[in-house]
Amino acid sequence: MRDADFWSKMAPRYARAKIGDKAGYERSLRRIEPLLAGARVLELGCGTGLTAMALGPRAHSYHATDIAPGMIAIAQGRLVEQPVPNLSFQVAKAEDFGPGQFDVVFAQNYLHLLRDLPGTLAHIHAILPEGGLLVSKTPVLGQAPFYIRWLVPVLQAMGKAPFLTLVTAADLARALSDAGLTCEPTEWHASRGRDLRAFIVARKV
Ligand SMILES: C[S@@+](CC[C@H](N)C(=O)[O-])C[C@H]1O[C@@H](n2cnc3c(N)ncnc32)[C@H](O)[C@@H]1O
Repeated sequence: MRDADFWSKMAPRYARAKIGDKAGYERSLRRIEPLLAGARVLELGCGTGLTAMALGPRAHSYHATDIAPGMIAIAQGRLVEQPVPNLSFQVAKAEDFGPGQFDVVFAQNYLHLLRDLPGTLAHIHAILPEGGLLVSKTPVLGQAPFYIRWLVPVLQAMGKAPFLTLVTAADLARALSDAGLTCEPTEWHASRGRDLRAFIVARKV
């Protein structure tokens, strides 16, 4: 199944799912908000738009995108119910954008899903101006317990898990650096349990 089809099929369930660690999620939002002030923001892999609805008002403009039409249809429905003037949604991917359009790229639960991480990071680098930021929070399943790393390919073979890579935080930092982005130290925002979501702010220098 193509990635976009997998995620479109998942979309209604994804929209109903509760945020696992609300306090950790809120902590990330508070950390991101000041980074968006006055910025033209591109969100990649926005899903059903919940985070875009929360962060949109903090930015100068906020364009939230996803490859899955099913996700974007739900996000657009949210926007009709609760309008945010500077927020827009589109079915799109990083490669559809070019330089000069955005100051900040934000992606949550996205980098580990890319089939070509270096290629997509090169596009993000091209989109960003000098000094522009990539802000990412994504699972680093390469640091997960053995049984999870074992389970992933089994679920994938059954069509129950998407394409994903078992990256570590160090892998991500290296890939970002290779793409010409300078990372601040990785942050961990979980309020409980073992934190497998690396929060990274990387700057184009
Ligand atoms: C795990 S969901 C995360 C959604 C949202 N960011 C969140 O944190 O709730 C991953 C999203 O990334 C999208 N996605 C996967 N690969 C993508 C790609 N190459 N380009 C853009 N979006 C992608 C999927 O369609 C899906 O909506």
